[in-house]
Amino acid sequence: MRVDGRDVEPAGTILDAVLALGIPIPHLCKDDNLPPIGACRTCLVEADGRVVAACHTPAAGVDEVYTGSERAARIRRAVLRLTARMHGPEPDAEGGPRSSELWAAYDLNGVERPASPRRTRGSLDSSSPFFSFDEQACILCGCCVSACQQLQHIGAIGIAGTGTRAKVTPGTGVSFAASICTACGSCVAACPTHALRPAPERPGERLGIPGEG
Ligand code: SF4
Ligand code: SF4
Ligand code: FES
Repeated sequence: MRVDGRDVEPAGTILDAVLALGIPIPHLCKDDNLPPIGACRTCLVEADGRVVAACHTPAAGVDEVYTGSERAARIRRAVLRLTARMHGPEPDAEGGPRSSELWAAYDLNGVERPASPRRTRGSLDSSSPFFSFDEQACILCGCCVSACQQLQHIGAIGIAGTGTRAKVTPGTGVSFAASICTACGSCVAACPTHALRPAPERPGERLGIPGEG
């Protein structure tokens, strides 16, 4: 297989091949530890003349991939612009370890970073002493749900509703403090925005976010 004119072993997915060559491409909803979700559409590339999501397209059988073709880049920018409309500006408070990926994706693809908060205000759940969830910064990528269900096998967080009513909720639908959440930190580590962010550290308390030293 050739990616941007370079030969690469067609193992795994197209995204695996692209990243193996060190080519930067956004992949906001693909966590290294989890199977692809295919929700964010930021990893679009052109493969043998078709625009496909690189994260869940097998590399086997594909001959030519272009990550920066006019068509793929245009659609990717459009997707990122829509994503930018879903959340507000970068906050002072830090997000999890992946929270800078989205901002890097905007810069890399020439998309303006959001400067004003989105119009409809979302809810804020800071009931957990370990992390908070700010709906305003959520892009509904599903990474948190996948981390909680598939990595931790807990299921304390989910997405309720569909379309414009879709919303991340604690499993109980009330609050994270009242849910079966064990405060393992996997959802915060998987979130590519600052929607899920660690609570300010208190003496004797620390959320053990995977990937943070
Ligand atoms: S902290 Fe762990 S248990 Fe709680 S919602 Fe996140 S992934 Fe699930
Ligand atoms: S809270 Fe974060 S990980 Fe979960 S859906 Fe929203 S943006 Fe994605
Ligand atoms: S990383 Fe491929 S669709 Fe999200």
